Amino acid sequence: MSDTNLEAAPLDLTPRGSLAIEYVVNGPVETNTYFVISGGEALVIDPAWEGERLVEEFSRRHPDVRLAGIACTHGHADHVGGVAGVRRALGEDLPFALAEEDVPMIRSNIEHQRINWGIDTEDPGEPNRLLAEGDVVSVGDVRLQVLSTPGHTPGGVVLFAETREGPVAFVGDTLFPGSHGRVDLEGGDWLAIMRSLAKLGTLLPPETQVFVGHGSGTTIAQELEGNPFMQRALLDQRRREGRMRRDSEEPASAMPRREMCPTGTHSAGMTLGAAW
Ligand SMILES: [Fe+2]
Repeated sequence: MSDTNLEAAPLDLTPRGSLAIEYVVNGPVETNTYFVISGGEALVIDPAWEGERLVEEFSRRHPDVRLAGIACTHGHADHVGGVAGVRRALGEDLPFALAEEDVPMIRSNIEHQRINWGIDTEDPGEPNRLLAEGDVVSVGDVRLQVLSTPGHTPGGVVLFAETREGPVAFVGDTLFPGSHGRVDLEGGDWLAIMRSLAKLGTLLPPETQVFVGHGSGTTIAQELEGNPFMQRALLDQRRREGRMRRDSEEPASAMPRREMCPTGTHSAGMTLGAAW
């Protein structure tokens, strides 16, 4: 995993590299932990729980692949709960990447989870790489581009790659099929997540396979077609850009509200990837 800062660079839509994706559902709220495998390297995204066991099982399945780093889509306890174990297994020098904006809320969210749900989560420690818009996280010959997508948390990010298998995006809890992540936790922001949904709907190719933080995945095309929140967000964006007249605005109360994170249930339905 290498560092490249492409500040304010446009999304690179040139297919680069080839990858395989595996996932395992783990932790107390059934979080999807993903492994992106390319060119003899792997990146673990959102190691949710039992980090040492994740490493052990991954190494058993892929003895010739080097687990080269960790990236977390956001700092919620149910997405970082396995980080400490992975770092213990592979060494503190292992890159652990997270957006700077989410660093301050890691501990308070762990405490929130302990008090409200009785779940003790291991502290992941400080990230040694801070992610920001335009950064690239490389694994093998695949380049995961970082999009800042606040709203679920202040430092939520999406990792997007255009590959020979097609475009893929790891969206954490920002986007769910037909819905979006909850905004009622610390740092949650309704307007911000709507803008993030509009950003994803605008920038990512429709055929992008979307890997979500909980439950089954989707595609951008499916969300453009059937996600009322993304549709509304895009409408609002067009209005902001002055392309629509204000008097055609539909009332906000017409919007359905359905939020899934972190209690979404899992069913294996991804078209790309293999479950453990
Ligand atoms: Fe979350």
